[in-house]
Amino acid sequence: MRCPMVAGNWKMQGTRASVAELIEGLRRQELPEAVEVAVFPSMLHLSRVSDALAGTVLRVGAQDCAVQSEQGALTGEVAASQLVDGGCKLVLVGHSERRLILGESDSVVVRKFAAVKSTGMTPVLCVGETREQREAGFTLAVVAAQLAAVTDALGVQSLHNAVVAYEPVWAIGTGLTATPEQAQAVHASIRAQVARLDAEIAEGLRILYGGSVKAANAAELFGMQDIDGGLVGGASLNADEFGAICRAAGM
Ligand code: PGA
Repeated sequence: MRCPMVAGNWKMQGTRASVAELIEGLRRQELPEAVEVAVFPSMLHLSRVSDALAGTVLRVGAQDCAVQSEQGALTGEVAASQLVDGGCKLVLVGHSERRLILGESDSVVVRKFAAVKSTGMTPVLCVGETREQREAGFTLAVVAAQLAAVTDALGVQSLHNAVVAYEPVWAIGTGLTATPEQAQAVHASIRAQVARLDAEIAEGLRILYGGSVKAANAAELFGMQDIDGGLVGGASLNADEFGAICRAAGM
C-alpha cells in the first residue's frame, strides 16, 4: 500500500503576514493520519514555516535547490544541505515553470535530483507535457523522456523513496484539469516504465497528479488506481480548501 501524499506548492506567493495567516489556518485543519502532507513555501519563508509547523504532522519542502548539494560559491542559490539545515524534508525538482520559463534542462534537473537524494531528502520530480505536445499525440513520449533522463543518469534505484508528480502544463493554473481517465493513463504509463526496470520500486512509487486540483475534483482524481495524491498550487494558498483536498486523499 502506498501512503498518499498531498503537497502544497505556494510558488512565488506570500508575505510575512499572509504566510503567518496560512500557517494558522493549516494548524486548524483536521488532517487524515494516513496521508503525508507537505507544504512548499518560497525560500524566503521556508525556515520560518518549518519552525512554525514543528510538532505538527505537516512537513516542509523547498520548490528548488542548487545543482550541488554542499555549500559553496554559487550566488543566489540554496544548497540541498542548507535546506536540510532549514528543516526541509522534500524538494520539488523540474517544475514546468522552471523548465519552461527559466529554461531548466533535463541535465540540470538530473543534477538537482541527485543533490536532493544525496542529502536524504525526498525529491519530487515534476514531469508533464504542454498543450501543443498533447495535441500532437506526444504526451506519453514527453513524460517518458523526462523520467528516463533521471533513471538513465542515476539508475532506477534513485526512484526509491522519491516521488513523481505528473503535471500537464496546460492544466497548471488554468482551471483546466485533466480528467481522471486522462491522468490515470499517464500515471499508469509512468509506473509501467519504472516497472520494466524494477517492479518493486514501481509498486512503491508515489505518483501525484498536479494541475488545477481543488476540493471539488480531488476525490475523483485520487480515486484512480495509479494516482497517489496531488501537487496543489493555487488551492494550497487557502488553508480550508487545502485541508479538504488532504481529507479527500484520505478517503
Ligand atoms: P495549480 O498548480 O494547482 O495552481 O494548477 C499546480 C502546480 O504547478 O504545482
